[in-house]
Amino acid sequence: MGGSIFRKKKIENIIAEPEGQEHSLNRILTVKDLTFLGIAAVVGAGIFSTIGSAAYHGGPGVSLLFVITAVTCGFSALCYAEFASRVPVSGSAYTYSYVSFGEIVAWVIGWALILEYAIGNIVVAISWSGYFNNLLVHVFHIHLPDWLLVDPETAINAYNDAVKTLAGNTAGLTPEDLKNHRFAIEAYNAAPRIGNMPVFLNLPAFIITALITWLAYIGIKESKQSANFMVLFKIGVIIFIIVVGAFFVDTNNWTPFLPNRFEGVLKGVSAVFYAYIGFDAISTTAEECRNPQRDLPRSMIYSLVICTVLYIAVALILTGIENYASFKNVSDPLAFVFEKRAPWVEKIVSVSAVVATTSVLLVFQIGQPRIWMSMSRDGLLPKVFQKIHPRYKTPSFSTILTGVIVGLGALFLESGLVTDLTSIGTLFAFILVCGGLLVLPPVKKEPGKFKIPYINGRYIIPVLLALFVYLFRERAVTSFENIGNEGYQEVLFLLFLVIATLLTIKTVISRYSFIPVMGVLSCLYLLIEIPAISWLWFFVWMAIGLVIYFLYGYRNSNLSR
Ligand code: ALA
Repeated sequence: MGGSIFRKKKIENIIAEPEGQEHSLNRILTVKDLTFLGIAAVVGAGIFSTIGSAAYHGGPGVSLLFVITAVTCGFSALCYAEFASRVPVSGSAYTYSYVSFGEIVAWVIGWALILEYAIGNIVVAISWSGYFNNLLVHVFHIHLPDWLLVDPETAINAYNDAVKTLAGNTAGLTPEDLKNHRFAIEAYNAAPRIGNMPVFLNLPAFIITALITWLAYIGIKESKQSANFMVLFKIGVIIFIIVVGAFFVDTNNWTPFLPNRFEGVLKGVSAVFYAYIGFDAISTTAEECRNPQRDLPRSMIYSLVICTVLYIAVALILTGIENYASFKNVSDPLAFVFEKRAPWVEKIVSVSAVVATTSVLLVFQIGQPRIWMSMSRDGLLPKVFQKIHPRYKTPSFSTILTGVIVGLGALFLESGLVTDLTSIGTLFAFILVCGGLLVLPPVKKEPGKFKIPYINGRYIIPVLLALFVYLFRERAVTSFENIGNEGYQEVLFLLFLVIATLLTIKTVISRYSFIPVMGVLSCLYLLIEIPAISWLWFFVWMAIGLVIYFLYGYRNSNLSR
């Protein structure tokens, strides 16, 4: 099957490969470092920024979404953990798919992971820039020109919206809305021009990306030390916010708990899931761990548990302090709730948000080059992607290329679509990791290695599917009745029901293990709740990836020889 696009790698060969490299990476990371790295990657723009829109739509019930998403991520984390123990090398989900599904799926995943790491980091850099500017204005009283702080699409949309609104009836607008609209017009008029085009760019987002890329370039040790410090600081501040915030909670704000019913809560899927992305990133450092088979699984689970507890508490505190309806268009919700009640806390929150997003940037900026390095070792990308710097021992070319992509994206792109794309790409990877465990031949538990406990899914999965169909019966019936004229979102829902039913039948027949099956189903469910328009871009991205695979990877793959 040398020429098949489904050719697979053998686990034994994969483990032997890194040892044969000219320069290998430094094996210095311990379980504590890895847990810190996990938290460094997870706690960032999600809990400091995107939680605001999720709380606005879902009300206090958004805390339920944090639980559901944590359970979903928990299933995936266990599957990642078993893979990390079986295949302790750098490629993460990419390498895991290579051994379970074969080359083309591995390539697709590698390509989707660019969405999680590089494209995802664009959102983080933009969020960093927002909080950083907050600090400049409120603490240092420095005002940068507006055209240096925003991407063109956001600025031009705000201008068009303001012109339209102010030309109509403005009686219903609050003074704050009026001020914001005038501000958008002024910013547009004040921007420099090339020909007739106003120039807008997010300069702070670009600068922080350049600095972090440099840190990732000069070494994993320096990166590790900075990440450890940043994690301690941000966890400390989040606990502080929870404790201080508890004194300001008005329990009346918790009722109604689901003001927009469960549909409202589900609107936050992408934002909340985004907040959890990152625990999987530590699997990319497998070749820099002292004992990857023991430490990677543990640290993934530790970091996920710690973040879940903090997130649920923050969601409850946030929606307890302020009525959910006030979070409309609030991009810095944690600072916002303290703005009038305790301005000194607001400043601490802004500093901590800058630190938190910096650490996320760092981990993802470390993760992306290591995935490219693995793809290049397999021949799917040119050799230059695996080049390791002789002195710094980091993948030099890949690190710089990541910096260029993230930096340029952060300068010019708008963050909403990018967040959805990141969540879709990541959920897609999670599904293939969980599914991958189902198709790999089972192994016996060995001492020092992690293995998911086997629970036969034969009876539980059908019961859970029946329960799901019962709970969502109205939606299923309406979607089915209107199948010709439904929006794409409902078609996705029906597709989910079909796939879930097929997988359940297969589980009954093959006695599949409960945890990976639940991983696939729960990620798939979150995936179909992300707006259909973002799916379109996802398919465009994937199509480009496949063209590159057939033009380069298919012919140059090591397995083709
Ligand atoms: N989970 C990471 C964040 O929230 C991506 O910034």
